[in-house]
Amino acid sequence: MYNIALIPGDGIGPEVTNEAMKVFGAAADKTGFKYETIEYDFGGDRYLETGEVLPNSALDEFRQTDAIFLGAIGHPDVTPGILEKGILLRTRFELDLYINLRPVKLYPGVWTPIKDKGPEEIDFIIVRENTEGLYAGIGGFLKHGTADEVAIQEMINTRKGVERCVRYAFELTRKRNKAKQLTLCDKANVLTYAHDLWRRVFDEVGAEYADIETDYAFVDATTMWMVKNPEWFDVIVTCNMFGDIITDLGAMIQGGMGIAASGNLNPESVAMFEPIHGSAPRYTGKNQINPIAAISAAGMMLDHLGETEGAGLVDRAVSDLLASGEIKDLAAGRMGFTTAEIGDKIAESVAS
Ligand code: IPM
Ligand code: MN
Repeated sequence: MYNIALIPGDGIGPEVTNEAMKVFGAAADKTGFKYETIEYDFGGDRYLETGEVLPNSALDEFRQTDAIFLGAIGHPDVTPGILEKGILLRTRFELDLYINLRPVKLYPGVWTPIKDKGPEEIDFIIVRENTEGLYAGIGGFLKHGTADEVAIQEMINTRKGVERCVRYAFELTRKRNKAKQLTLCDKANVLTYAHDLWRRVFDEVGAEYADIETDYAFVDATTMWMVKNPEWFDVIVTCNMFGDIITDLGAMIQGGMGIAASGNLNPESVAMFEPIHGSAPRYTGKNQINPIAAISAAGMMLDHLGETEGAGLVDRAVSDLLASGEIKDLAAGRMGFTTAEIGDKIAESVAS
C-alpha cells in the first residue's frame, strides 16, 4: 500500500493531476497494487485567502509518504517567486530531493524542431543537481535601491552535494545500459573554483566506473550539441542552474512542454514527480491542456516505487498513442482532443 501526496496546485495543475492519477490508477488495477492519496490545496488561491504558502506540518507529512505528485505552481495574482520558492523549491530543499531527473526522449510520431533527427538520435537523460548551486538562496543586497547598490547571489557547491549527484549519475548510466556514456556539463573554463570541484569529483568517482565512458562539455557547447548532435548524449550530469536551462531546451527537442516529465528524487527516501511545464493560467479549466507530461511523470513515479511493470505499461501507452498520429498537435488547444479524452485513451490502453 503506497501513500501518495497530491499537490495539484495552480492553473491547469489540477486538470493534469487528475489525468495523471487516472492513468496511475489504471496501472494499479492492472498490475495489482494498492495506494491511497492525500490531497493538499497549496498554491496561489490558498495563499491569497490565508497568507499561508506551505506549513512545516505539511513537510513532515510529505516525509511520511512514498511519493509526492505536483501538478503546477504559479498564480497570475501572486508576485513571482513566492509560490515557486515557498512550495516547489522549499520541498526540494527540505526533503533533500537532490536529484532532478529529466528524460529527453523523442517518441516515434512526435514532431521535433531539429531537422533530420528522430527517436534514434534524441534519447538521453539529464541529471540536474537539485539542492545547491545558484538556487541555494545565499546572498543579499548592499545599499538596496541606491545608485551604489550591490547584489550578491552565491553559488554553493559542497563536496558532499556534488559527489552524491555525480555518483547517482554514474549509477544511472550503468543501469540505463545504453551508450554507457556520462557527460559532465559545466563551465569549468570560467567557474574555476565551483566547477573545478565538479571536475575533480567527477574524475574521482568516475575512476570507480571503468565501464562508463566519460566526457566534459561546457554548458554553452552543450546547448549547441543538443541541437546539432543530440545523439552524442546518453546521460548528462550538471549543476542546478545549468540543469534548469538545458532541460527547457531538452523539452523543446522532445516535442515540447506538453510531453516533458521530471522527478525530484532523494534515492534514499521520498520523491516528488511533476511535469516540467508551469500552470498555464490562460488554459485553466478549459480541458484543453496536454496531460501527457503529467502522465509520464506519473509513469516515473511508478518506476520510482518499484512498479516497473506499471511504469512500462504507461510508457508503452503514451508511446502507442503518440505513434498513432491521432493527436494533431501536442500544444494546448490544438490537440483535437480534450485533456480528459487524452487521459482516458492512455488509461484504457494501460488497462487493456
Ligand atoms: C523548473 C522550474 C523551477 C526551477 C521554477 C518554477 C522555480 O523552472 O522546475 O525547472 O527553476 O527549478
Ligand atoms: Mn525550469
